[in-house]
Amino acid sequence: MISFNKAQEVLIKYNQQHVLNFYNELSDNEKEKLLEQIENINFEEVNNIYKEVAHVASDSVTDITPIGRIDKQELSDEELDRYIKHGEESIKNGRLAFVTMAGGQGTRLGHSGPKGTFVLDIQNNKSLFEILCDTLKIANNKYEVSIPWYIMTSRENNDETVKFFEDNNYFGYNKEDIIFFKQGELPMIFTDGKVVMEDKGIIRQAADGHGGIFRAMMKNNILQDMKNRNIKWIFIGGVDNCLLKMVDPLFIGICEEKGYTLGSKTIPKRSPDEKVGVFCKKNGKPAVVEYTEITEEMANLRDAKGELVYGEAHILCNMFSLDILEKMEKVPLKYHSAFKSTNYIDNYGKLCVSEKPNSYKFEALIFDAFGLADDVLLLRTKREDEFAPLKNKEGQDSIETARQLYYDYIGG
Ligand code: UD1
Repeated sequence: MISFNKAQEVLIKYNQQHVLNFYNELSDNEKEKLLEQIENINFEEVNNIYKEVAHVASDSVTDITPIGRIDKQELSDEELDRYIKHGEESIKNGRLAFVTMAGGQGTRLGHSGPKGTFVLDIQNNKSLFEILCDTLKIANNKYEVSIPWYIMTSRENNDETVKFFEDNNYFGYNKEDIIFFKQGELPMIFTDGKVVMEDKGIIRQAADGHGGIFRAMMKNNILQDMKNRNIKWIFIGGVDNCLLKMVDPLFIGICEEKGYTLGSKTIPKRSPDEKVGVFCKKNGKPAVVEYTEITEEMANLRDAKGELVYGEAHILCNMFSLDILEKMEKVPLKYHSAFKSTNYIDNYGKLCVSEKPNSYKFEALIFDAFGLADDVLLLRTKREDEFAPLKNKEGQDSIETARQLYYDYIGG
């Protein structure tokens, strides 16, 4: 582990000396933990992110244009048949893997554990993880395979997630085919560039966003593991959509036949203000404009038929070829910043509670890598078949709405 002197040297270089203000008051164990944190943080990178993100209002993209899609409903029986057969071959040959992004906690739901452990199906006592697992098990039986399931956790929830699977005997899934890996973290930073101290011996860090998946996969040799298993297609989805259809032969079949390396299942956006990202092209390349960043004009633009021009919602149902993932792993993503209110320890060692936003949290977003693919297959699907997001305790996209959509779908 890094020595105190070395840590001090690093902190002086990056103007973060306050991190060691209370070092002498810490227990041996706390001292060790703090030095470990300092060793693991790349302060050079943090400095660069701060300079770029905190001072730039928006990115420099100028050319945003609409993007095409294929509507599942408009495919002929012959086309459906052909694509599905093609996709089924791939699945039967063991070419598909599934990755769940499950780095988040269930805080917004009022749930104290990892989001995936939330019991959505109260009739059958099934958590989000078990619901996803059921979908995989049905596909495994149908295609006589065992689809590898990679689960991205975070420092905050990894141990609890792994224990949850162990306690539930992996829901009867093949243990060797469930692989956990942790996403990274970045320190939170005040407007003056200083890292936030959560406690006298702890730097406040937050998950680096689901765009951190590429770096986390690289660090944990996930793509190599996939190569060893002869995987070609990797479906990556969020943990909070209980209707996720990760084993979709039609989706794979179209990608294969038409030569796409990237695919995304979409649904038509319900209204201009629905909290979903939308697809478009940025400088000719596939992209998503997030709901927090879209202009009102763009959100409301309609075509001659009255349809939203930017109306293909990104529902975190994305599929990548192994080749394109390899390319995406190598190119660092830019970070988006969110200005948050955070409690902190001040220079006098006092805990300060902040009601107003006071610090930046940095997140990379998975879809910022989409521009590395020449094109994307957007497959428009039906909302009631594919999307039941669980985001809030009450209101829209809540426990009640997701549960209802789920029961409607399974006929429960
Ligand atoms: C997200 C999408 C939005 C999409 C909507 C559909 C982003 C930034 N936006 O919005 O385009 O239309 O879902 O539901 O994703 N996660 C991690 N690690 C992280 C952050 C998130 O694993 O560091 C996982 C979460 O556990 C969750 C998923 O990513 O499964 C989505 O994250 P969330 O923050 O809930 O995104 P939304 O704002 O809902």
